[in-house]
Formats: sequence, C-alpha cells, structure tokens
Amino acid sequence: MRGPHNLWRLIRTAGTFEKTGAMDVVLDQLNAPRELRIAARVLGWPFKWLGFAGDPALPPVTRAITALGPSYIKLGQILSTRPDFVGDELALQLRVLQDKLPPFPTDQAKAMIEADLEVPLSSIFSEFSDPVAAASIAQVHQARLVGDGRKVAVKVLRPGIARAFRRDIDAFYLGARVIEMLSSSARRLRPMDVIAHFDETVQQELDLRTEAAAAGEFAANTARDEGFRVPGVEWSLSGRAVMTLDWEEGVQMADLAAIDAAGHDRAALSERVIAMFLRHALRDGYFHADMHQGNLKVAPNGDIVALDFGIMGRLDEYTRRVYAEILMGFIRKDYRRVAEVHFEAGYVPADRDIDLFAQALRSVGEPIFGMDASRISMGRLLAYLFEVTERFGMETRTELILLQRTMVVVEGVARTLNPHMNLWTAAGPEVERYIRENLGPRALVRDLGKTLRVLSRFGPHLPRAVEDALRRPDPKVAEVARRRAAGRPWLWFGAGVVVASGVAALLQVL
Ligand SMILES: Nc1ncnc2c1ncn2[C@@H]1O[C@H](COP(=O)(O)OP(=O)(O)O)[C@@H](O)[C@H]1O
Ligand SMILES: [Mg+2]
Repeated sequence: MRGPHNLWRLIRTAGTFEKTGAMDVVLDQLNAPRELRIAARVLGWPFKWLGFAGDPALPPVTRAITALGPSYIKLGQILSTRPDFVGDELALQLRVLQDKLPPFPTDQAKAMIEADLEVPLSSIFSEFSDPVAAASIAQVHQARLVGDGRKVAVKVLRPGIARAFRRDIDAFYLGARVIEMLSSSARRLRPMDVIAHFDETVQQELDLRTEAAAAGEFAANTARDEGFRVPGVEWSLSGRAVMTLDWEEGVQMADLAAIDAAGHDRAALSERVIAMFLRHALRDGYFHADMHQGNLKVAPNGDIVALDFGIMGRLDEYTRRVYAEILMGFIRKDYRRVAEVHFEAGYVPADRDIDLFAQALRSVGEPIFGMDASRISMGRLLAYLFEVTERFGMETRTELILLQRTMVVVEGVARTLNPHMNLWTAAGPEVERYIRENLGPRALVRDLGKTLRVLSRFGPHLPRAVEDALRRPDPKVAEVARRRAAGRPWLWFGAGVVVASGVAALLQVL
C-alpha cells in the first residue's frame, strides 16, 4: 500500500519523537550520520505539534513508542532483542517496553471467534470470561467447552490488527528507504533488513495457526521431559484469529510469594528452567525464545508450564555441534581449540590470524570463568564471544543472537527464583549429555548410518552401474573410460577410510 498516508505516518512519527525528546536519544544511540540527523530534524521539528504527547511519566523513547501504537511497540520489542542493529544502550531501553494494552471488549472477541470459526459461540463454549490478559496483538480469555466442560484458554487477535500493522509496516519500509537514500553511511545500519525482519516476524504472529503449530511441535518434542509442560492445542477450535489451548492452572512464575505459599522448591525450579532451555536448544534445536516470567507458570504438581509460542528459535544440527564444541573448549580453557573450531566451521575467514583470535577468545573466557559460580552467565559469555567473532569477520546470525538473548532472559528468571543458583550444576549435565551423544564415537556411527541410508537409496541402480562398468566397452569409449578410471584409486581410498573409521568407532563403543 503505497501512498501519501505513508508519508503522513512518517511525519507524525518524527513529530512524536521530537515532542517527547526521543529524537535526540535515538540519533545519538544509533550514532547517526549528519545527513540523517538533518533529515530527521527537518521532518520532525516543524511537525512537532502534530506528534502525540504520550505519557510524560515514561522515559522519552518508551513514551514515544507507546504513544504511536501496537506496531511501534512490537518493533521496539523486536529491536530490543537485536543489539547488533540498535546498539546495547538502546536495546536495554527498549527492553522495558511493556507489551500491555487496554483490552478490547469481550463482545468483539466473541464476534471475531464466530467469524473465524464460522460457528455460534454458544455451540462451542458454555462459559466465556472477560479478558485475563491483553497485549498489542492479541488477548486471552478463559472459557469452558460445551460437552465435557473442560477449561480452555482462548487467544483472540485484536480486531483490525492485521490491517493496522500492514499500514504501519508500509510506512516503516518507506522510512527505511528514505534513510538508505539519504545517507550512504546509514546503510551500515541496514534499515531495510531491519524492517524486513520485523515484517517476517510479525506476519507469523498475525496468524495464530502459526503459533498453534509451534505449540504443537514444542509439545511433541518435550512430551517426555519430566517437570515441564506445554498446553495441548484444540485444533478444531483454532484458526487464523483464534487459538484454543488447554487451560493451565498454577501460579505465575513472577509471583515468588505464591510459589513459596504453594510449597514449591524454588532452587529446584531455578535449575530446571536452565536445564530445560538448554535441553530444548541442544537436543531438539527448537527452543522457546520468549521465556520471560510472564510466559511461565508453575503447575500445582510443581511442573514448569510454558505459554506463548509467538517467538521460537531454531538451530540446525551442525550449528549445535559447533557451539557445543566451542563451549567445551571454553570450559577446558583451550582457547586455541575454540579458535580452530571457528575456522573449521568457516565462521571466521581463513585469512585471519588464528593466534590473535585465540588471544581475543581468552579475553572473553578468562574474566567469566574466573567469576564466582553464582555469577557466571552463559548469555554474557556468548555476547562477548559474538563481539569478538564479529571483529574477526564473522557474519551476524539471527538465530544465534536469539539464543544468546534468550539465554540472558532465562538466567534472569532462574536467578530471580534462586539468587545463589550455580549455573554449572544446572547446565553441566545437559551440555555433557549432548556432547556425549553428539560429538563422540556414537555420533560418528550415527552419521555413518545416515550416510549409508542415503547411499542405499541408490541401491536399485547399483547392479546396473556395475554391469555398465564391467561390460566390455568399444575401443574409443575404452580410452575415455581408462582415463576416467585413473581417478578411481582415490575413490577406493576414500571408501576405505570411511569403512575403517566406522569400524574403529564401533570398536570404541563396544
Ligand atoms: N493455556 C493457558 N492457560 C492458562 N493461562 C494462560 C494460557 N495461555 C495464556 N494464559 C494467560 O494469558 C497470558 C497471556 O498469554 P500469552 O500467550 O503470553 O499472550 P501474549 O502473546 O499476548 O503475551 C499469560 O501470561 C497467561 O497468564
Ligand atoms: Mg506472553
């Protein structure tokens, strides 16, 4: 949707940033180049009177963003997880953005559900409460199912939210394009990438079927994790704008007094939060990436319940192995090995100096591992590590930043539960198990098994291939074949190595 309304929206944005004093803060934090400062002023200053005043009790950036509405709040929240884009200071300020908005009327929620599921509400729910929580994109109601009377949680999108986001995102794209046009040095901030990332993330959240699918996948992965639970999805009562989950009783993770009153062991919960997060990230490569206290509950039986599957993270198997090895290297203080892993994985360009890199890695590891165990932070270790690897030419990877950011949040939750939590006793067993199962001989055998399975798919073609090879060729073709065959000893050698290492691995396991 192009058009003058985008420009109008930009002007109001700039006006609001001027009026609230947020403009200076943002330009400073982004270290914005001169051309950009001038443009922002030209767009903002004369239109200050058109800007929203917002709540004067809030700090400038939070105030401006909250005044501008849901899409800005969401953009701010997403940027708070991307210090690589906005810098550490601004990320910290944006993190305090509360995703709380006044709820919309229950009648509107009911109308949304009936329109989306195409059934009268009374035919599916015997009870339907007023909202229990409301955020920028959706709100949650408690309901009872007709029939068995089971309690469920019903999440409903805000009416018109998809349109509102579409409109604002178009304005964001325009803004990003203007910034890129105005200043070549501002391209370093990659404004178009930022908005594209935002667009992609939000599109997923605007379709609750995506979240329902995430809940389903996460529940399947974690079904056998003792002491951890994910509510089941009622697929027949879920659609684009509605998601119905089993209602989870229990106390909020933020409510320490209630946790104590219910007699739960906070130290145990604290370690389990860390262990579960690591297990999901390492074992499944699929983790809850928004694990703040508001999205966690403690069930009456002491299980940790995860809620809100709007932001999930994925790590492929290769990345998980590389990072397990890196972590292992840090724990053993083998910085040279940590450096080598980066080079082997191609994360750091081959022309960099490995010794200098190893030295920089030591500067990351030593201060952290020298700390008292109750203060060690893996999230911080990763943050420092990424700073160094970036300096040595490694590309920023969104999924790793997400992992690191969530790690910090999870550690925060764990330390709130138990300030004396020792990260190593919580994390150690999970990391060790992963390494044992994925970096040792067992992993080698499994890899070989996978390779053989792939090869075996060519099985039906093998007899024919052998026959072709053995059939006496005519002399002209023979010459070509002879030359080709010259390369074959290497093939046999390669096959030999594969088989030999397989046998060696088997011997070690047995
Ligand atoms: N299945 C559920 N059982 C019980 N309470 C729930 C359930 N799902 C959500 N809630 C409540 O609603 C609140 C908001 O839900 P959440 O999915 O986190 O929405 P948002 O994406 O808006 O943060 C939660 O913090 C929790 O208190
Ligand atoms: Mg939530």
